[in-house]
Amino acid sequence: MRVAAILLAAGQGSRYSAQTATPVAKQYVTLGGRPVIRHAADALASHVGMIQPVGDPALLGAALEGFAPEGCTVLPVVPGGDTRQASVSAGLEALDALPDGERPDLVLIHDGARPYVPASVTQGVIAALAQHAGVIPAVPVADTIKRARDGIITDTVPRTDLFRAQTPQGFRFGVLRDLHRSATAADATDDAALLELAGHHVAIVAGSEDNIKLTYKEDLVRLERLIGPTLLPRTG
Ligand code: CTP
Ligand code: MG
Repeated sequence: MRVAAILLAAGQGSRYSAQTATPVAKQYVTLGGRPVIRHAADALASHVGMIQPVGDPALLGAALEGFAPEGCTVLPVVPGGDTRQASVSAGLEALDALPDGERPDLVLIHDGARPYVPASVTQGVIAALAQHAGVIPAVPVADTIKRARDGIITDTVPRTDLFRAQTPQGFRFGVLRDLHRSATAADATDDAALLELAGHHVAIVAGSEDNIKLTYKEDLVRLERLIGPTLLPRTG
């Protein structure tokens, strides 16, 4: 089985930038001596045969300079799109353009803003793809969830069947490529949703509370504890 990973880094990081004075998008913030995106790339490299980075060719190319993991081909950076879905599509089309015999059978889609993926999470996703067309790592929701309107609770949502989705999300390559080609712009908030809408079963495997997505500056504090200090000045 050929397994590829699409490493997403084409976002603006607008929620993070709105809170901080960081002059770069969040995936380029340096943690423990290396950019966030580089940690994410390292975490994937030992599990896949190729990585397709998606983002600004100059910025992402510079962040991945010298990244030459053993047994894993790092493909040339392709530019992303205005939405995450468009960026995933760009990565899928680049992989589809590979010569016959090099195209992947399985593809992982990973947020470049998630630098600390435990190996067991990625292994769990790949293993479950033997049985399912789509697999996502997720963690159970711990808090009690309330639905409210105009500040007044309307009901309490049973949390036993609620999960927080993480990445890397894994898919049979051809299934995800075809669904992306037929998808409209408003179709889905993530790739798993495209499969769900098309009637495929998408399985959940154990995620990790350490698999943090850098979204707000509070996340950086938790990631610094796991990885090391940030080298860029922060304010606020
Ligand atoms: N992403 C992407 N292309 C986009 C939007 C997002 O490749 N057009 C990537 C981001 O770089 C990130 C991942 O998808 O690694 C998860 O998205 P998110 O955390 O929402 O990042 P941003 O969209 O950059 O942040 P924000 O929503 O705060 O602007
Ligand atoms: Mg976003």
